[in-house]
Amino acid sequence: MSRNGIPGRPGWLLTIAAASGLVLTVIVGPALQAQEPTEANIASGRRLYHQKADCQACHGWSGNGDKLDSQAPDGANLRVSTLDREQLIFVIKCGLPGREMPAFDRMSYKDDRCLGRTQADLDRMGLELPDAGVSLQNREIERLADFLMTKVIGKGEMDRATCIDFWGEEVDVCGEFQP
Ligand code: HEC
Repeated sequence: MSRNGIPGRPGWLLTIAAASGLVLTVIVGPALQAQEPTEANIASGRRLYHQKADCQACHGWSGNGDKLDSQAPDGANLRVSTLDREQLIFVIKCGLPGREMPAFDRMSYKDDRCLGRTQADLDRMGLELPDAGVSLQNREIERLADFLMTKVIGKGEMDRATCIDFWGEEVDVCGEFQP
């Protein structure tokens, strides 16, 4: 009698797995597609990185930590970073107090958006936060994240092809990489 139950099991599991796979595809699929960054948003994020936010001063133009400003702190190598999009946005908004990464959200440490901490808390903990110089709006931070997630975070060392893809065209600086 029990022989009947045993071969039956994998069948049940498969059915459940297939069914939940289907459900996941149906529910998650369209949501992910809606978040797919557009070329325009990626390009806009790249300009924010290089110009307005000047992330490259500390992180280098490609994000590899080869800072452009010799006086600036040593930024992390973002090309080997394992942060996900949500964590990335959090770090951009709230910075890394005590580790020389500035906060780019104007309201950071003024209300509770940075783990509920205020500037007074940071002072009490002896954690310094460098001045970002500029603040970014939410939609700018979203575009920066579009750019960083598609071209920088976890993308590893650059070569000629990734350099051209990074800029969206062949630029002089890509000549420094082997074809
Ligand atoms: C004043 C220099 C400076 C500027 C400007 C700066 N950063 Fe940073 N950033 C740092 C430093 C320093 C670290 C932390 C290094 C460490 O202690 O690990 C860091 C860390 C990070 C991390 C965490 C990486 C990881 O995997 O843990 C991210 C993400 C990041 N920066 C993104 C940015 C972005 C995006 C910008 C521009 C909006 C920016 N940074 C501007 C200095 C800077």
